[in-house]
Amino acid sequence: MSRRRAPVKSDRIEELGDEEVITRVETNVSYSTTIPTKKTASSNTTDNGFSLFDIIRSLGFLLFLGATLSYYITGTWAWGYETQLTNPAYLRHSFKHNILGAPYLNLTDDQLSVYDGTRAGEPIYVGVGGKVYDVSANPLTYGPGGPYHFFAGRDAARAFSTGCFQTDLTWDVRGLDPDTVAKDIRGWQRFFEKNKKYFYVGQVVHPEPSGEPPKFCQGQKMPGGRH
Ligand code: HEM
Repeated sequence: MSRRRAPVKSDRIEELGDEEVITRVETNVSYSTTIPTKKTASSNTTDNGFSLFDIIRSLGFLLFLGATLSYYITGTWAWGYETQLTNPAYLRHSFKHNILGAPYLNLTDDQLSVYDGTRAGEPIYVGVGGKVYDVSANPLTYGPGGPYHFFAGRDAARAFSTGCFQTDLTWDVRGLDPDTVAKDIRGWQRFFEKNKKYFYVGQVVHPEPSGEPPKFCQGQKMPGGRH
């Protein structure tokens, strides 16, 4: 004798003559489907509809706007914060030498004299014991009318050591104590190399010194031991 059980929803019921066959339908089917979403249509687009490119472009525009405003208001590209990387002259120079492989300058004294800040559009260079630095970022000090304009466009190594700014504007250091001169010159070279506004551009090559050596003069050293 078979016991009759109550059908459940998933059962299939068939009538065969007098009999009613109830078949338990086991549905154990798994399936997956893929519904395309917006993200897969364009993987660079966020849920808001902005692409990564839109975000980068907007940030770039804001940076450009900020830098331009800063330049017109403060005269610097980063609201007064200055490093070599905010100095367009340094960036140009670095690209030329580090990326394009351009050689460093090799100037004569006459060629160096062109860069004394009196010619519009030309950089301002200062020579110190054969090394030449671009100081265009500080025209108030080295440009015409500036307190150290006399150092621009020449190598006044002697004055860098003695402090005699009227008589010693020359690279000729004959007659001075060689150790003191070497220490003073190295100190000022280090000053220009470490300064974030200035950078090394090459060398100036002097002729052999001849004639009478400059007269001895002892001015004042830079107070506070700057170098
Ligand atoms: C060997 C003697 C000296 C040398 C070679 C020398 C050189 C310099 C140089 C190259 C600068 C410009 C620094 C820059 O680019 O920012 C400077 C700035 C200056 N020097 Fe002299 N200097 C000497 C002596 C003196 C003396 C004796 C005084 C004052 C009594 C003086 C007062 C100043 C002042 C006030 C500044 C401006 C500071 C600044 O704007 O950062 N210097 N000096």
